[in-house]
Amino acid sequence: MSMRLDGKTAIITGGAGGIGWAAATLFLEQGARVVVADYNEAAGMQRIASLDPKLQGQARFIAVDVSSEEQVEAMAHAALAWLGAIDILVNNAGITRDAMLSRMTTEQWKQVLDVNLSGVYYCTKHVSPHMAARGKGKIINTSSIVGVQGNLGQTNYAAAKAGVIGMTRTWAKELGYKGVCVNAVAPGFIATDMVASMPEQAIAAMSERVPLRRLGQPEDVAQAYLYLASDAADYVNGTVLEVNGGLSI
Ligand code: NAI
Repeated sequence: MSMRLDGKTAIITGGAGGIGWAAATLFLEQGARVVVADYNEAAGMQRIASLDPKLQGQARFIAVDVSSEEQVEAMAHAALAWLGAIDILVNNAGITRDAMLSRMTTEQWKQVLDVNLSGVYYCTKHVSPHMAARGKGKIINTSSIVGVQGNLGQTNYAAAKAGVIGMTRTWAKELGYKGVCVNAVAPGFIATDMVASMPEQAIAAMSERVPLRRLGQPEDVAQAYLYLASDAADYVNGTVLEVNGGLSI
């Protein structure tokens, strides 16, 4: 079975960001048509304009704040109208609002839960019925090593990313018999804007702890998404694929 995505269609949330865009370009190169769903319209449009002209017609940007159920519903309708059918949903949008517990504000707590947990719920809620009705589909949720191990200053993020694993396993059970596979990817520390905002010293210390002695690249995670999105993973359901250079061992 192939890892190519010829003739398939995908929605990638957070598609204008580091990992999401690496996934969008990889999926396009592998033959898919892709909706880049993100709330950063300027970045999304710029990314699509930067594509090889041969691929530009295969990608479309749709603006959405995944923390708004109303906007997610509208995005799902617009995506379906353009794509015709939805084979793949990658719930990749995410934010951080870090603070130690003693300093974390309720607003920081809520913002991260709204995007990283509720956003995944809303997108799956509004896309999965279409997949179930067709009897096939792949849903890939982005968790994090932090959802498994916790991390200083990330109460909100760890809670959301652990919740994503719980939802992934629940949906794998609820949707599996309808032909829809639901899996998660748990990246370690990946060199995107999200990590670039950390102090340089912290990044160097982090790399030292990784058995492969480097941060991951967005493409490393995109390849894991591709595998789980492809026919090659047709019997993989409810798993959490760690992409962290061995950091968790
Ligand atoms: P990034 O910051 O480069 O990209 C995130 C994208 O999500 C951005 O384009 C942003 O505009 C979009 N986004 C944020 N809030 C949104 C909302 N409410 N609605 C729609 N779009 C929204 O971050 P990165 O690193 O590419 O992260 C992608 C995913 O990978 C996230 O879920 C993140 O939590 C996860 N992750 C990242 C790790 C890393 O080390 N970079 C490690 C583990 C997980």
